[in-house]
Amino acid sequence: MAASMVQSGEDAFRKIFKFYKRRNPPPDFSDVIDFSRGEPSDKVVAVKLEPGAVSDVEAARVGLQPVRNWKAFSLQGYPGFIFIPNPFLLGSQPFWVRQCLKIYTQKPNVCNLDMHMSASDTQDIWGKSIHGLSFPPSAKREAKTLLERLRWVTLGYHYNWDTKTYSANHYTPFPAELHLLSVQITAACGFPRFISEAGILNYYRSDSSLGIHVDESELDHSRPLLSLSFGQSAIFLLGGTCRQDPPTAMYMHSGDVMVLSGQSRLLYHAVPRIVPAPQGCASLDMNSHSLDSTLQEHTVLEPVSDQDWAVCSKYIQSSRVNVTIRQVLGPGQNFPETFSTSHPRNEGDQTVERGLADGAFLKRKRSNSCDCVDTVQT
Ligand code: OGA
Ligand code: MN
Repeated sequence: MAASMVQSGEDAFRKIFKFYKRRNPPPDFSDVIDFSRGEPSDKVVAVKLEPGAVSDVEAARVGLQPVRNWKAFSLQGYPGFIFIPNPFLLGSQPFWVRQCLKIYTQKPNVCNLDMHMSASDTQDIWGKSIHGLSFPPSAKREAKTLLERLRWVTLGYHYNWDTKTYSANHYTPFPAELHLLSVQITAACGFPRFISEAGILNYYRSDSSLGIHVDESELDHSRPLLSLSFGQSAIFLLGGTCRQDPPTAMYMHSGDVMVLSGQSRLLYHAVPRIVPAPQGCASLDMNSHSLDSTLQEHTVLEPVSDQDWAVCSKYIQSSRVNVTIRQVLGPGQNFPETFSTSHPRNEGDQTVERGLADGAFLKRKRSNSCDCVDTVQT
């Protein structure tokens, strides 16, 4: 059992992170919770959602099943943590995958490649990658495509990886359809009036990981943080308020949704490892991208062309995309005076802010101490 390997006083989170990241020999995954099995246990508890908060039509518009059909779980000892195994309608995930790869990678959104490339070179990441991605795996390509080198994209209030802050004068419009999806999910979880103000997309190759961190840069922590995953699966570790608290390991599969709210909003977490999607994962099936048209009268889901899907499915065969959506400000709240120099929605500053290193390890510098999160530097 991974948790029993650590003695008190050690950085338990780091030990378990390294345990699951290890390649040789591979770790024992038998302690990893798989919510897709849908079975409550001594650790996994069922959560009641609010099916009345979202109509079936509203849910279907963004590609979600009726809320009464969703399963939702929490973990013993993690109040406010909600895990919803794939609530998407069959065939709707390809639209969201295509948005993440083709649409959200476009300017004015910001990405890691902007750090060392000109704006014109990162102008059309999708268009510049489709040819290279179409080669069969056997054909040796000289250089990786831009999509293969993409590590993160930011939306809305662009997260500054150096200062670990958001600011009023670096804002570009948040994608309307992604906001709609976020509103439906958070409403079903008991959080009406969620405002999607910032998004971070993480693009993982099969050897990528995301370092141990707390998401505390948002100014209002009473609003939930929403996380969506597509493509290959991940081991996700959810710890406590201190690095000494041993984390719980769980799988995140394609379509799975996680909500960090309440006491779980400010817990340490990390992704030590990407793992292959389970066999027969329907969302990755090439043939499952045509949605039942009777459900889709007022849909935001545009059809995904065969050409687009060929590129997307090729990419996600070896990659994972995670989208986190955050409300930065509470109702009526503003950025501190020094930052709020202009109205963000009218005057999005296009300046590229840079910070996170391009590399397989999406490292976020955080405190290693046992300080509780409210004393850790943002
Ligand atoms: C994040 C994050 C987790 C994941 O972007 O802050 O914690 O599952 N992502 O990729
Ligand atoms: Mn996070």
